Amino acid sequence: MAEILGVGITHYPPMLGYPKTYANLIRGIMHSKLVPEDMKQPANWPKGMQEEYDDEAAQAIIHQQRHKEALSTVRQAIDDFAPDAIIIFGDDQYENFKEDVIPPFNMYCMDSFPAQPFTFVNTKENIWGVDPEHKFSVPGAGKLAQQLADGVISKHFPIAYSYKYSNYPNLTHAFSNAMVFLDWEQKGWSYPIIPISVNCYGKSVISSRGGASHLFDQRPASEKDAYLDQPGPAGPTPQTCFNMGATLRQVLEERPERFVVMASSGWSHAFLTEKNHWLYPDRDFDRARFKELESGNHRAWVDLENDAVDDAGCQEFKNWICLSGVLPDYKPEIVDYLETWIFNSQKCFAIFRP
Ligand SMILES: [Fe+2]
Repeated sequence: MAEILGVGITHYPPMLGYPKTYANLIRGIMHSKLVPEDMKQPANWPKGMQEEYDDEAAQAIIHQQRHKEALSTVRQAIDDFAPDAIIIFGDDQYENFKEDVIPPFNMYCMDSFPAQPFTFVNTKENIWGVDPEHKFSVPGAGKLAQQLADGVISKHFPIAYSYKYSNYPNLTHAFSNAMVFLDWEQKGWSYPIIPISVNCYGKSVISSRGGASHLFDQRPASEKDAYLDQPGPAGPTPQTCFNMGATLRQVLEERPERFVVMASSGWSHAFLTEKNHWLYPDRDFDRARFKELESGNHRAWVDLENDAVDDAGCQEFKNWICLSGVLPDYKPEIVDYLETWIFNSQKCFAIFRP
């Protein structure tokens, strides 16, 4: 019977770079035509947001320090557990999930993954101090992944799987950033990974190109594509995410290996939260989810609806719902919970010990 350790972290891309860049996204969003003119004036923001922005430099450094400490705690837990493999749930933001095929979930059965995450910051001012083109290899557990995919499918959950990347040359951001953050001190990473990409972005994975392109699209409606520039079909529901995790748990229980199962993502994202003019995340939605997590009642996430998740800009939270489906009976230890107005996304770090 497998032993399973659960962990949840963020893959916040600006954290690859220096703190002075963390609020660049909100400064960019303020140039969008979709943001009302009055909301481009910080004086009209919520009071807490104004205070955080006024103290941006110091707050960004605290943001980094808390990430670093939390990630170090999570890394230590992984090292102490010494897994045979680490299964990671992460969103695909129009990387491999493109116009040719968009599965709800895709398990990658590969023995190694080239990673090149620092192109995102595109400068040597990054936490590894490397050239932005720096490439490294992450080991994969391809054969084991193949067996897990077979097990999940045989238990009536038809997960998709791949033996190669189709549209993106390197390990996608949710996984490659996690590999950097969990190896912040560059001591090395030897645990083979099994990435499971989740179509968290659902209706907007194509129309927003898996990100914030809706905010900067200048084309008139007449120039937009009837399919690609309109909301598409929904992503997997929270119940589907939970059930996928629960099926995976059944498969893992029948195996002898030691597994870490990880959710890699922040929670509500500003650039996905229309009701907040895409300027700040839905802190109330996240607080409710955090209370459920803290009390060990995270299985309640199965009852969330897609519309509520999308309304909260919390699409990436579906990675955490997958994790909850694997470990509904585990009471997590909260490592840290970071609320923010100006650094795009809320972040949670937790360890689910057996
Ligand atoms: Fe992401």
